[in-house]
Amino acid sequence: MKTVNVGILGLGTVGGGTALVLQRNAQEIFRRVGREVLVTMASVRNLESDRLCDCSNLSLTQDPFRIVDHADIDVVVELIGGESLAKDLVLRAISNGKHVVTANKALIALHGNEIFAAAEANGVSVSFESAVAGGISIIKSMREGLAGNQIEMVAGIINGTGNFILTEMRDKGRTFEDVLAEAQALGYAEADPTFDVEGIDAAHKLTILASIAYGTPLQFEKVYTEGISALSLTDVAYAEELGYRIKHLGIAKATDTGLELRVHPTLIPAARLIANVNGVMNAVLVKGNAVGNTLHYGAGAGAEPTASAVVADILDLVRGIDGACASRVPHLGFQASEIIEREVKAHAKFETACYLRFEVKDVAGVMSKLSAEFAKQNISLEGITQKEPKAGDDLVSVIFITQVTEEGRVDEVVASIEAMSEVFKPAVKIRVEHFN
Ligand code: HSE
Repeated sequence: MKTVNVGILGLGTVGGGTALVLQRNAQEIFRRVGREVLVTMASVRNLESDRLCDCSNLSLTQDPFRIVDHADIDVVVELIGGESLAKDLVLRAISNGKHVVTANKALIALHGNEIFAAAEANGVSVSFESAVAGGISIIKSMREGLAGNQIEMVAGIINGTGNFILTEMRDKGRTFEDVLAEAQALGYAEADPTFDVEGIDAAHKLTILASIAYGTPLQFEKVYTEGISALSLTDVAYAEELGYRIKHLGIAKATDTGLELRVHPTLIPAARLIANVNGVMNAVLVKGNAVGNTLHYGAGAGAEPTASAVVADILDLVRGIDGACASRVPHLGFQASEIIEREVKAHAKFETACYLRFEVKDVAGVMSKLSAEFAKQNISLEGITQKEPKAGDDLVSVIFITQVTEEGRVDEVVASIEAMSEVFKPAVKIRVEHFN
């Protein structure tokens, strides 16, 4: 059978890792797909840089359009990242009738609707397993392995940098800034690390997972997003004392009143498996109405784990390269004509429990005054804790954990408590999920 020629756009960490894995595992790959899969061209910024892979049989170019326009290239692998140039290259490859594999989560989250429509019109596929949670194969699991289910919830640790920071803060008491600097030095963080710490990277990934879970268009702009940059060591430690871990989660939940799409720090009971996913590792919990809870765990970043997913996508395309378009798994796992908008709830309508910490003057009656505000809103409390004042300080931390309620009602309680003369500083609010 004819060799499949692959052109890689960007031969950096993931691009170099992809070529390396294809070269190292060539024999196994041939046995799996029955043909040779060769990287024949790659675009690079600098022709002289060191590479992870053997480039002796590779044609290197500084012009990525030469690859997407080249008649001999069957599959284009986009690994340059960013939005604008990547989008132009991917659309051009599609219009040239080439299949595309990409690890670019921002590209898919922001422009996926247009890109998939173009691919369907041209009879080609765009594969993007490596865009979410690196090597875990969560997209394949959700689109195929769990296809018999209605998905009730997806909740994932989908940013390795954020998880590394939270793990180091909890285990070693290190500050946020200190750990972020290490994550950047280790190469986990995005080019712009605010994407990691402000939740934007996780929101890109959640956008993709939510559309695959519910068969809705990609709608990044509707994801409620909070990062981890405002988290303090105090709350990380208090959560631990109360039997919880703080994890930065992307959550997509189907409720009777609409979808909840949210990315934020979350208290999780310390005994849950997902609460024990540490360091740069990722994990995605998917609850289906037939299967129940499933937890998918693995490396979410790095050259070879990400390359593992890129190569699997290439092989899937190779298996179907001569076949009919209709037999391929649809981009979002649902027929294109069945991609349907659903109401996405505003954050005031989220149904969630909350951890609330107030700093208050240590005077008689203050606790009951604060508690009364919850009763006024008919919010049940799971727990109330008062911490000792720090030496030389007359302020104490009072922590409430609510039962599940509409978040807007919690916000009203917080506003009335913050207006009290005994209360100092804005409250800390962190959502709580039990995953029962
Ligand atoms: N910066 C991302 C992370 C890389 O830390 O998860 C993988 O998408």
